[in-house]
Amino acid sequence: MGLQAKSMHGVWVSRWTFILAATGSAVGLGNMWKFPYVAGSFGGGAFVFVYLLCVFLIGVPVMMAEVLIGRSGRQSPINAMRHAVTVSGAAQHWRCVGWLGVTAGLIILSFYAVIAGWALDYVVQMARGNLIGADGEVAAGLFAELTNNPLRLIVWQTAFLALCMVVVVRGVRKGVGTAVEILMPLLFVMLLGMLVFAVFKGDFSAAWQFLFRFDASSLTWRAILEAMGLAFFTLSIGMGAIMAYGAYMPANASIGQTVLVVALFDSLVAIISGLIIFSIVFATPGIEPSAGPGLMFISLPVAFGNMPGGLLVGAVFFILVVIAAWSSAISLLEPAVAWLMEAQNYSRLKANVVLVAAVWVLGLGTVLSFNVGRDATIAGFTFFDALDFLTANIILPLGGLAISLFTGFAMRKAIIEEQIPELKGAWMTAWRAVLCYVAPFAITCIFVMGIYDKFFL
Ligand code: TRP
Repeated sequence: MGLQAKSMHGVWVSRWTFILAATGSAVGLGNMWKFPYVAGSFGGGAFVFVYLLCVFLIGVPVMMAEVLIGRSGRQSPINAMRHAVTVSGAAQHWRCVGWLGVTAGLIILSFYAVIAGWALDYVVQMARGNLIGADGEVAAGLFAELTNNPLRLIVWQTAFLALCMVVVVRGVRKGVGTAVEILMPLLFVMLLGMLVFAVFKGDFSAAWQFLFRFDASSLTWRAILEAMGLAFFTLSIGMGAIMAYGAYMPANASIGQTVLVVALFDSLVAIISGLIIFSIVFATPGIEPSAGPGLMFISLPVAFGNMPGGLLVGAVFFILVVIAAWSSAISLLEPAVAWLMEAQNYSRLKANVVLVAAVWVLGLGTVLSFNVGRDATIAGFTFFDALDFLTANIILPLGGLAISLFTGFAMRKAIIEEQIPELKGAWMTAWRAVLCYVAPFAITCIFVMGIYDKFFL
């Protein structure tokens, strides 16, 4: 056992369950909804390239560090950090990583639930046949109708948060483990089916060109910051979600391989979603790649509305989007819940009720930012934009920076070697070099330049 702590929350049944659960956390609205619209707003090609660089060069090593800290502590991120800090004899201020993460998770969940609510609404709209034969204009109209109605948004936001609570109350192993095992593979198959449709019915070559043609002129520091933030966001790293899941990972599973599989799945889903959505966008008059947060909700219904059996396919697809969002949202809530249970001795149920209530209230700000509060902006940001920017582009990269530096410089070598014995020789050297120098330098540089670009240019 050695430096390894024991867990009060249970362990995943196998390495494969961990991969599915971590993929369940990683693959979500970030890949299917956020990636396409942000890539569309920042010009495509070059942005996508930087995004992928960030996923594999910074994201994977940082994710490994997170899993490692989680598994060696076997507790909530806050306490896993405390455990790692204590065992390493490092300075206590490293522990703020855990706090920052739990806060970020709750803030993200507040707007995440609202967007997932849109998907819930679309399941119903699809099943009712509202979108049969819809063109770009009709689809945009229906989307505006939804976002202009605060009450409708609140109903779905509430429903989605209730779904999350149901799973988290049951505990990760039972709740999350079983949910992801069936649903993630199903989602993947469905996406591939949609891709085939996009190839035959959409403008696939235009979509390919848009996503993969490197056009350096669209590459501002602001765009690079957004690409890095998106990489952190879609991978679920920088706030302890993966740390929390790592805490339940079996001791004999290889961290490096596992994380690589998760990152591959994650970026694949983002790219496939992008290809599907842009194939439709370029084949449909009236939808622009830079349409913003509504992009997925305007473009996909056009495709479903015009394919045979689209009613059913569309409804099933949005159900899968909800499920992907669900398995991600769980990981935003779990760290805070685990912590309240450990620190305040709350029951699982009580911790859930308290936290979800707080998240629900904060979510009202996002609800209103799409209608009555649309014009209430700070530095050009609506309330929703501000929360999104604050979490994805500021807190997550800073969390990632701290995790890198801590694991690279402050963590006791014995813990690292105990956790990843399979990483030997040059690989170990390379990984440590990334954590100590490459990631911190890249994150700091992109962060400073991106903020400067956004606020001072
Ligand atoms: N990665 C998820 C997505 O792409 C969102 C998410 C879940 C997340 N847990 C997270 C983002 C933790 C940042 C941190 O939809």
